[in-house]
Amino acid sequence: MKNFIYDVPTRVLFGDGQVSNVGKEVKKHASKILLLYGKNSIKKNGLYDEVIKFLTEENIEIIELSGVDPNPRIETVREGADLCRKHNLELVLAVGGGSTIDCAKGIAAQTKYHGDIWKDLCVDKKFNLLTEALPVASILTLAATGSEMNGNSVLSNSKENLKLGFNSYILRPVFSILDPTYTFSVNKYQTAAGAVDIMSHLFEQYFSPDKKGYLQSRIMEGLLKTVIHYAPIAYENPTNYDARANIMWASSLSLNGLTSAGKESTDWATHQMEHELSAKYDITHGVGLGILTPYWMEYVLDKENVHRFVEYANNVWGIFGDDDFQVAKKVITKTREFFNSLDIPSTLTDIGIDSSKFEDMATSATRLGPIGTMKKLEYKDVLEILTMAL
Ligand code: NZQ
Ligand code: ZN
Repeated sequence: MKNFIYDVPTRVLFGDGQVSNVGKEVKKHASKILLLYGKNSIKKNGLYDEVIKFLTEENIEIIELSGVDPNPRIETVREGADLCRKHNLELVLAVGGGSTIDCAKGIAAQTKYHGDIWKDLCVDKKFNLLTEALPVASILTLAATGSEMNGNSVLSNSKENLKLGFNSYILRPVFSILDPTYTFSVNKYQTAAGAVDIMSHLFEQYFSPDKKGYLQSRIMEGLLKTVIHYAPIAYENPTNYDARANIMWASSLSLNGLTSAGKESTDWATHQMEHELSAKYDITHGVGLGILTPYWMEYVLDKENVHRFVEYANNVWGIFGDDDFQVAKKVITKTREFFNSLDIPSTLTDIGIDSSKFEDMATSATRLGPIGTMKKLEYKDVLEILTMAL
């Protein structure tokens, strides 16, 4: 196992009713805050009123910014940072899904940063230039990204047709409130996309060519089995507390560093390819991942890495056999069928995407060099996978 430092500073308040603590938690860090949210989901399900009530009880001054888009825009980040500077705000509280939390991190960074975070952090990847940021906190309403416990932010720039991420330890939320009852209102489509996103985060870390990472693989198999067990239940019965709770905690544990700490290598090629789809077509992240993942699996499978597919087949799905490649192919089909059972489509054509931008996407995905570790994917490989997914 490689050396590592595991340090997640996020205080997690999990369970029904935890939102009543939001005022007290904020007060530890700030008295004037930016309250950031998306369109109208938190007004519809009553969370907005609760948050305002509990913040007001602790005399927290609130400036609001709403309308964060799924695939959040750099323009919203700039607008939020202007508000924070103008009103001397001391913390950004995101109430929403991954897009709102990612946008909050962008705002927290841009507020204290003298240059342009889009250029320096997202495009040029000079993450160490970011030395200061406002504290971020979150109330999560959609289980998917893990943004509630990590330092990642993924932002979109529609003028440049790019969707790019950056990360920093200082952007990990100081606290996150995870109340599964607020995910009861997430519709079937976003529930399915969220489940696929969690599974994809696990695949990106589970599938690596080395034979090490025994403990990490076993933890990830447990998380995968949890999502595979509970996603169909939440999909059919959105108010099933146990299903929503298990999926919510799985989302946080799957991308907070727990499952990659000490691992020799991880992959992340499917995410980089999906970000190209979202950048060019503004699609839902988890849907793009659900389409690409089985094709990526088929493309990278070879004799060096077939052992990972066999482990996945045996330990997650209970699929066994004498021929490793047959077992691998069966489990890839099983994965696609599982996604389809949640009404995730199988091809890009199904979501209205044709091949006209494939070359652009392959160029952009590999602009910093080959991607992935299971198989290092160059321009022609990305083009091939996109074509397979057509
Ligand atoms: O805008 P509102 O009205 O809130 O509606 C949202 C939005 O339309 C709705 N929603 C959220 N909570 C709801 C709800 N509707 C009903 N009831 C609720 N309780 O769901 C829609 C999608 O929300 P969004 O935040 O976009 O979804 P998600 O959490 O899947 O976030 C996706 C974004 O996160 C990025 C993705 O690329 C994408 O931009 N990612 C962030 C990562 C990270 N920070 O570590 C990693 C991921 O791999 C991913 O790239
Ligand atoms: Zn993801």
